[in-house]
Amino acid sequence: MEVCSLPLLQQLSLKNTRELEPACSDLSDGEEQQVLKARRYSGIYSPGKTATEPEAAAPLPRWSPADSSTLYNVPGWGDKFFKASDDGHILVAPQGEGGPTLDLYALTEQLTVAGLRAPLLFRFLPIVGHRIAKLNAAFSAAIERFEYQGTYNGVFPVKANHDKSLIDAVLEYGTPHQFGLEVGSKAELVMVMARLAGTGRRGVNLVCNGFKDAEYMELVLHCRELGMNAMVVMEQYSELDLLLSAARRLGVRPSIGIRAKLTTRHAGHWGSTSGDKAKFGLRAREIVGAVNTLAEEGMLDCLNLLHFHVGSQITNIRMVKEVMREASFLYAELVQMGATMRFIDCGGGLAVDYDGSFTDSHASMSYTLQHYANDVVSAVQEVCIQRSIPPPTIITESGRALASHASVLVFDVLNTPECLHEKRVEQEEVVESIEIRDDKPLTKQLRAAARSGKGKFLLMTFKEVYDNITADAFALREAYNDASYFKDEGVRAFKLGVLSLEERAQVDMMFDAACERIREVAREADLPLPDALRPDAVPHTKMYHVNLSVFRSAVDSWAIQQLFPIVPIHRLEEEPTVAATLADLTCDSDGKVDRFINPRGGDPLPALPLHPLRNGEKYYLALFLTGVYQEVMGSIHNMFGSLNTVVVREARGQAGDAALVVEPAAVQGCEPAPCADAPAHPMADDASSASSASLAALEGGMEADSAFTATHAPADGAAAAAATAAVHDGAPGVPDGAETPAFMQDSGHESFASGSGSGFAAFGASGGGCAAGLVLPSLQLSGYELQEVVPGETVGQVLSRANHDVGEMLRTVGAATAAAVASGEMPPELGQRLLSAYTARMRGYTYML
Ligand SMILES: Cc1ncc(COP(=O)(O)O)c(C=O)c1O
Repeated sequence: MEVCSLPLLQQLSLKNTRELEPACSDLSDGEEQQVLKARRYSGIYSPGKTATEPEAAAPLPRWSPADSSTLYNVPGWGDKFFKASDDGHILVAPQGEGGPTLDLYALTEQLTVAGLRAPLLFRFLPIVGHRIAKLNAAFSAAIERFEYQGTYNGVFPVKANHDKSLIDAVLEYGTPHQFGLEVGSKAELVMVMARLAGTGRRGVNLVCNGFKDAEYMELVLHCRELGMNAMVVMEQYSELDLLLSAARRLGVRPSIGIRAKLTTRHAGHWGSTSGDKAKFGLRAREIVGAVNTLAEEGMLDCLNLLHFHVGSQITNIRMVKEVMREASFLYAELVQMGATMRFIDCGGGLAVDYDGSFTDSHASMSYTLQHYANDVVSAVQEVCIQRSIPPPTIITESGRALASHASVLVFDVLNTPECLHEKRVEQEEVVESIEIRDDKPLTKQLRAAARSGKGKFLLMTFKEVYDNITADAFALREAYNDASYFKDEGVRAFKLGVLSLEERAQVDMMFDAACERIREVAREADLPLPDALRPDAVPHTKMYHVNLSVFRSAVDSWAIQQLFPIVPIHRLEEEPTVAATLADLTCDSDGKVDRFINPRGGDPLPALPLHPLRNGEKYYLALFLTGVYQEVMGSIHNMFGSLNTVVVREARGQAGDAALVVEPAAVQGCEPAPCADAPAHPMADDASSASSASLAALEGGMEADSAFTATHAPADGAAAAAATAAVHDGAPGVPDGAETPAFMQDSGHESFASGSGSGFAAFGASGGGCAAGLVLPSLQLSGYELQEVVPGETVGQVLSRANHDVGEMLRTVGAATAAAVASGEMPPELGQRLLSAYTARMRGYTYML
């Protein structure tokens, strides 16, 4: 790996400073500033040069949002949907370049103030529309260029993201292009049947892939009866019999596709879906067998489509060319065998440039949409001309390329151990407490320190190193080496039992102080940092704890080491000085991100440059390009559930008026608007008021209760009685038939003890002091509106998924609390508080507040 040796300079996409240096005087002002900025990270900058030389002491140019944009390579991967604003925020242009923009930080802040907590998933629907239009424009241009007589109709593979708003957006934005859908399972087919029927788009192509049984076959045939162009693709030879039987049973003629197992093999991670050993598809002899069977059945006119899919994220266009040649000849052969072929379906594979390097790296692609369309169209055209066959309609099943950009996940940093203010103060105190006296020779002082103990000696030597940090590149390197050496000595001494824990902590502090001083001096004098202190150097990465579950929201980064761009959404006008890795909320050492996009392609970088945290101020990051696969494949590891999701689209009504009232039934994943007596700003870290606010919301909404407990609430009187009995049976200290304790009556917690009513219904009785719904303010979004807010899962909902009976849990805890209060072990106020906290969390978001 190129890790430590890669200067951040290279990330900045500037040339090596050595190359730039002689030409410095020819540079424009802006370029010269860039070079100056880059220098501070460059260990290779003019080795002979030190800070004592005049120009090195020149004042450092200010960091700008444009520098951050270059550092994080936003233009590289952002496809013009994302950029840095002049005030250092990330702007989103969901309609592409030139379209109205949204300030992601301002939007996040406004939503947070309204009570919608991060992590927040933004779904920018116009981005999907833009990508669909761009893909179609590329195919139209290719069709025109190669004078292709056929057409292009893409389909979206719904497995990439099942979200309803997204699927509806694909159909809506795809209308001018006859864009269709692809399904890979019965459940997906059931979903899509309703979407196509409901949106009046039943005429589009519906490609049915995946494992199939008789029921699947019948459903596809029913789609045809509903007027949908459902084509069922034979992925295995045995499926043909199933299909023919179903067609006979229903008396419906199918439209059949054959998935071919091509020999051309995709070399990337997803290559196992291609080549001879591919999981799906028919080999040449099976294809011939299928054609013969259909001929015998008099159904060759039903064979209409050739399908292939060589794998996702094809990074190099050569693969597309090769695959297209093999597939096009196969298509021509099927025509010549007598099948009524009309479609060639090239599957997915069109890549996304995650690192923005435009290279063959796994996280990138070295071709454009236009190259892709050109190669697909020209390959088919060439074979059609050679074999004199009519040109088919070309289908692609791009998932990644169409929807990745549309989802942006905003999350906050919770803490980083090194950012504690108290610690810095303590560190300064330690530094100051070590005295080196001018009036005595240093060796004498050190000897005295050594005599009084190893700890004292180490601290003294550190102080000496610290005091001698001077503005000279070699001296800085030397100082760092000395500090590292003495730090290691400290560890050794501790292992030998010579150093106390307290002394070891002080040695650590001196080391941190020395590093900080080296950075400071280097920054002030514009000197290169010692290698190990550069922001991209592994030994000095700091771990930022983030309000996120990798397993829930970016599972591919853990499972298959996929890289996603991660960028702060504000403070971009400030230079990021901390080399960070991210650790998520889960209790799993794999729950981290420690590989980051390398804007030059190739090996990932081991650290992400971030800003130091500020006391009492939220620091937000965003994970980009997560619109496919991540949302559908995430797990509930540690019971972190789905995210609060904000769906944004173009303003349809009164432009700019984005007021949105989210009904109480839908606010389970949100914290409600603050009560009058709660802190005005929900970011204020007052867990108890947040809990009582949640309880109030819970108490205020019958609808919320029924949605919340749909599968668990006892539905009738008998069940409720049984629940009551169960509670009383198992509740120590609550005698059968006893009245609800007074402290529970006061606080609306009756159902905890009595199980009265149906499930949670009793919670709805008392009403609360807070608004039950989440009222989003009328945000001035200039050109956009919030189409909907989909609340993330509550703790209770996630528990239900793991077969826990939430009603029963509440009653059990209620009974135990009542018993503790009844026996005098717990004061009633504390009992009330406990129940409030418990219900609030059950109703609350699974992430940190
Ligand atoms: C059959 C099929 N079609 C389409 C796709 C979508 O691929 P991509 O997201 O690379 O476009 C896949 C994904 O693996 C697939 O298996």
